Amino acid sequence: MPMTQTQYQYLLTSQNGRVGTIQLNRPEVLNALSPDLMVELVDALEAFDANDAIGAMVLTGGSKVFAAGADIKRMAEALAIDMLVMDQLARWDRIRKLHKPVIAAINGYALGGGCELAMMCDIIIAGEDAKFGQPEIGIGVIPGAGGTQRLTRAVGKAKAMELILTGRMFSAEEALEMGLINKITPSELTLEEAQELAKTIAEKPAMAIRLGKEAVLKAFDTTMEGGLDYERKLFYLLFASADQKEGMQAFMEKRAAVWTHA
Ligand code: CAA
Repeated sequence: MPMTQTQYQYLLTSQNGRVGTIQLNRPEVLNALSPDLMVELVDALEAFDANDAIGAMVLTGGSKVFAAGADIKRMAEALAIDMLVMDQLARWDRIRKLHKPVIAAINGYALGGGCELAMMCDIIIAGEDAKFGQPEIGIGVIPGAGGTQRLTRAVGKAKAMELILTGRMFSAEEALEMGLINKITPSELTLEEAQELAKTIAEKPAMAIRLGKEAVLKAFDTTMEGGLDYERKLFYLLFASADQKEGMQAFMEKRAAVWTHA
């Protein structure tokens, strides 16, 4: 699918059916995630999220690189108090609040903030050439956009500790083995695979998709009892949706459901 240029300076966005695709587009610096790029990215994600015609999103960096991290050149001379006051990484939290599923399509480097951005997505499809890592230790810092928390929850303490304290890169194969990613594809098919999966999800009833995502994410910040209670309430809530009536009626009539995403 061709990527079309929009109003963004550092992104390409496109829509195909119910799937919105966003491509990071600063190839000259391996898609380093500058504050300006992140303003645009959060804006583009929120615009798709608010668009009823979109059911799922794909985030890619293109065929060569996902993102080599936060923009080191923009941070090198920064002062701690300015960093604290400006709190630019707080903007990233808005990605966590998106209602629609986001699928990351990763080729090449997904390092530092690039790996953290991938981990903020709901599903990760990686090309055979993908290289992940949290290399911040090598420039005198630690991950600052969720890496210490999300990597640890995804792969466990032992692996996360090793990866964050050594900063070493790891392959798509190792990422799959650790449970960090969903699937490895031939590199030239990564985007297509992610878009196919996004299409499958986008065609499901939108309210159930939204609450299903919300319920799974709840598991990361609550107790088992709190999570089960939350899940049950969301389950009951879906009986207010037109698609629940249609889905169950269609089952009884032995026909395919026609979703209205309402
Ligand atoms: N920030 C700014 N510029 C970057 C960058 C980054 N994170 N990563 C790469 N670039 C730039 C390079 O400076 C270079 O620009 P110039 O041509 O102007 O010199 C260009 O992209 C190409 O990069 P390289 O020449 O280095 O390419 P390479 O193939 O030799 O190496 C690499 C690739 C191993 C990914 C190497 O670029 C690298 O180590 N990048 C930095 C990775 C990193 O440390 N990321 C963590 C950043 S901190 C962070 O993300 C904090 C956080 O948690 C939010």
